[in-house]
Amino acid sequence: MNILNGKNILLGITGSIAAYKAADLTSKLKKQGCNIKIVMTKSSELFITETTLESLSGNKVISENSDSPTLTNFSHLDLAKWADIILIAPCTANFMNKLANGHGDDLLSTICLAFTKSIFIAPAMNPDMWNNKISQASIKKLREAEITIIGPNYGTHACGDVGYGKMINPDEIINQLINKNIYSDLSGKRILVTAGPTREPIDPVRYMSNYSSGKMGFAIALAAKQMGANVEIITGPVTLQKIQGIKTTCIETSYEMAESVLTKIIDKDIFISTAAIADYRPKDYSQTKYKKEMNNIKIEFERGIDILKKISTEFKNIFTVGFAAETDDLEKNTMEKLKNKDLDIIVGNIANHELGLGFESDYNKVIVYSKYNSIEIDTDKKINIAQKTMKFIANEYKKKLSLVKSNVK
Ligand SMILES: Cc1cc2nc3c(=O)[nH]c(=O)nc-3n(C[C@H](O)[C@H](O)[C@H](O)COP(=O)(O)O)c2cc1C
Repeated sequence: MNILNGKNILLGITGSIAAYKAADLTSKLKKQGCNIKIVMTKSSELFITETTLESLSGNKVISENSDSPTLTNFSHLDLAKWADIILIAPCTANFMNKLANGHGDDLLSTICLAFTKSIFIAPAMNPDMWNNKISQASIKKLREAEITIIGPNYGTHACGDVGYGKMINPDEIINQLINKNIYSDLSGKRILVTAGPTREPIDPVRYMSNYSSGKMGFAIALAAKQMGANVEIITGPVTLQKIQGIKTTCIETSYEMAESVLTKIIDKDIFISTAAIADYRPKDYSQTKYKKEMNNIKIEFERGIDILKKISTEFKNIFTVGFAAETDDLEKNTMEKLKNKDLDIIVGNIANHELGLGFESDYNKVIVYSKYNSIEIDTDKKINIAQKTMKFIANEYKKKLSLVKSNVK
């Protein structure tokens, strides 16, 4: 399978002497089956013509200078949504430093700011510019922001200087894109995500529930979609907007959640249970409202269906991911859940309404375990946590698949 086939690549070209290599890169990406849109910075036009790149990419080049009728006020957002990958090659010192500091003062840098998926840059510059402390600080920042830096190579430069800073050749750039994407790609995979709380009715006006907001589940679903997966959500009552392109089913009780999961799980590859499904529900539902004249009431609760365990034990071919919201002993409780429920992956976090942790917050901090690996993701926005978690899930899923395949042979 060619992992780049059909991918939308936004190729950014900046003002380096190595810009001529972008022509070869474009035709090689095209041979991989990529759809290519090229965005040129103003200064890059001194080094290579739009005509060359248009002929090779098969698409109109987008540049600051072009009064292209296709450019609108929202082109930066549309292009950021269109692209699966942004590759900037060659990337000048100027652009690298801009990117590292979050500047958006031209079309290409603004697209990068609005982009939520993987960015790759292939730096090309004089060795002194590369070794410059500011450039090196930018490299560090870019790596922290999970931007992949491809190269540069060591060698003799056009100016005669020798050292690091030469743009890596197009074949090697493509190899690195392929390697990075093999594991972080979920194209065509069918993923079912559960999200939010459930409500367990007590009487016609009361229910028992929890503080889950559904934010983590929706972020996981969005991150999975961004990685090319075909995602469905089943959610309890939440106030979040549905995500475009994700089929969303709304349920209320844990019983409805179980029914819906069991109907939809059949054709799925991965099940991610982020929902805070009630473990217990009132044994007897009162058909009439409990009256306030009663001094004390006793409500007996019974254990509901353990949906996650049911899926992991009865649907062995489905890769199963659970979330553990714990109030204490996070590591121990999370590991135990991984083992007891026979899961492929568990994501653990501390949830405490009073401390503002977990459920309702826009931020989270998690530990993620598979049977063989683990990562800790420090406090960050839920969407960033979700993207890192989904990468881990994709890697472990691919490893399991290749293990199953090699056992079958
Ligand atoms: C002949 C020539 C070659 C250049 N080559 C490079 C280069 O290889 N790398 C680099 O970082 N800057 C190079 N520059 C400087 C950039 O073009 C300049 O910093 C420009 O403002 C970059 O704009 P951009 O990053 O928006 O494309 C070169 C300039 C000239 C005149």
